[in-house]
Amino acid sequence: MHAASERVHPAVRHARFDQRRGRREQRGARGHDAVLGGGAVPLARPPERELGAWISAGPERERGTTTVVQGRVLDCDGTPLPGAVVDVWQANDTGLYDTQDDNQDLGNLRGLFTTDADGRYWFRTIRPSSYPVPTDGTAGRLLRAVGRHPMRPAHFHYRVTAPRIPAVDHARLPRR
Ligand SMILES: [Fe+2]
Repeated sequence: MHAASERVHPAVRHARFDQRRGRREQRGARGHDAVLGGGAVPLARPPERELGAWISAGPERERGTTTVVQGRVLDCDGTPLPGAVVDVWQANDTGLYDTQDDNQDLGNLRGLFTTDADGRYWFRTIRPSSYPVPTDGTAGRLLRAVGRHPMRPAHFHYRVTAPRIPAVDHARLPRR
């Protein structure tokens, strides 16, 4: 029989990332961090990458399912936005972000891309995994109150910025 702490998913146990110090802190997430989903935080200085580059450089690249992610950034009128900056980050195939996992270098499974003349971006990676959000704080009380489980489906995080356009944060689910 395992102690309760041993049954907690690592995404919950090692959820705190200190943005100012640029390092992981080995403690559980509570309150605001829990609502944000633990380690699913943007980096202040994500790695800039060329269109088509791999964002996976850790051991998950050998284990995971190779995936090509592509998209297009348009304004509300459907006009392509060249030069838009697409900041993307994801969990690996075990549900852990680089900020939570000592087996990944910071910046793994992240990339900062600039859209081409047609507003397009694309990159190579592995399929992310689902993971549980921390349940020891406000998010946990809310989930229990409405009878919901803590698992988030596999997804990619996006933060898209472009000149004269408000920043957009988004989570995108991979197509099956
Ligand atoms: Fe996430």
